[in-house]
Amino acid sequence: MIYKYCGNSGVQLPLLSLGLWHNFGDVDDFGVARDMILHAFDQGICHFDLANNYGPSPGSAESNFGKVLKSDLSAHRDEMFISSKAGHEMWPGVYGDGSSRKNIIASCDQSLRRCGLDYFDIFYSHRYDGVTPVEETMEALIQLVRQGKALYVGISKYPADKQQRAYDILREAKVPCLLSQYRCSMFDPKAQRENFQVAVDNGSGIICFSPLAQGLLTGKYDNGIPANSRAAKASGFLQQSQVTPERVEAARQLGAIAKERGQSMAQMALAWVLDDQRVTSLIIGTSSVAQMDNNLATLSNLTFSDDERQRINAIISNPQLWF
Ligand SMILES: NC(=O)c1ccc[n+]([C@@H]2O[C@H](COP(=O)([O-])OP(=O)(O)OC[C@H]3O[C@@H](n4cnc5c(N)ncnc54)[C@H](OP(=O)(O)O)[C@@H]3O)[C@@H](O)[C@H]2O)c1
Repeated sequence: MIYKYCGNSGVQLPLLSLGLWHNFGDVDDFGVARDMILHAFDQGICHFDLANNYGPSPGSAESNFGKVLKSDLSAHRDEMFISSKAGHEMWPGVYGDGSSRKNIIASCDQSLRRCGLDYFDIFYSHRYDGVTPVEETMEALIQLVRQGKALYVGISKYPADKQQRAYDILREAKVPCLLSQYRCSMFDPKAQRENFQVAVDNGSGIICFSPLAQGLLTGKYDNGIPANSRAAKASGFLQQSQVTPERVEAARQLGAIAKERGQSMAQMALAWVLDDQRVTSLIIGTSSVAQMDNNLATLSNLTFSDDERQRINAIISNPQLWF
């Protein structure tokens, strides 16, 4: 594993982190989930990314992670960097959603209980909810640090103006933003344009989610939607309508370049996001240990020639591909 310092902090993160959004809930096979967590840790993926609502059912990914932590990894807590977040719907009701102080503080307590932890290494505001003042949300995060429930704080998906406001409030309280979490892939360059430099200029690390566009950038949809793929699953967030002919054709063309490089499509897609030196880590999702191994092998070929860059850019500059 390769580790990288996170923004202006003394914390290092692995270039690949594991996210538990899909495949770790109570609708999933616990044995496979456990194997993936343990394999990740054995391979140096020491950062695990959670949120209150991951499942389904909401909360079950944290509960399952907590079970594995207790049975297999409790001796290694200090070798792990564990995150959680609050801000998306956990249950229907006025206190089950949003970025209010009420929700952030209560949600962190619930997440700690489900995971069986005393503290999170980082706790995020999962989103700017469009209503709650950024001051209120940031003050709640600061309170979590002061209470020892989180060592660091982060923000996720904040639009650029709210992002800057959040950094300013956190800096003033001497609880600087450790990580800014944004969606980024070959099919999703928006945050690279709008948010990355703001993060860097404020000393925050950048961690990217859905670097494979939820599997679209693996070649698995070249010949239709396979059973068991995320787009085929009722609980999957990737909609079949998002598996467009344009994206499938682009993935096919990109796959041909990956093959020339001696890489899988997934490996080239991960290497592409890591090629942006502003990025600290990628949060990958996997549904098997074999996928994780495939993704880990990315680290042996992270460079692109000028010719490859030009050919890849010619394919992915089509706005029809973008989310
Ligand atoms: N902050 C936020 O709002 C936010 C939002 C979304 C995600 N996240 C975080 O980011 C993490 C990753 O997101 P993501 O799961 O969408 O990431 P992703 O890496 O883009 O997609 C993961 C999916 O791609 C497929 N896949 C992965 N490796 C493969 C390989 N080598 N070959 C073939 N297929 C492969 C698997 O889907 P199949 O099921 O088809 O096998 C896997 O579940 C989440 O778990 C979460 O922690 C954060």
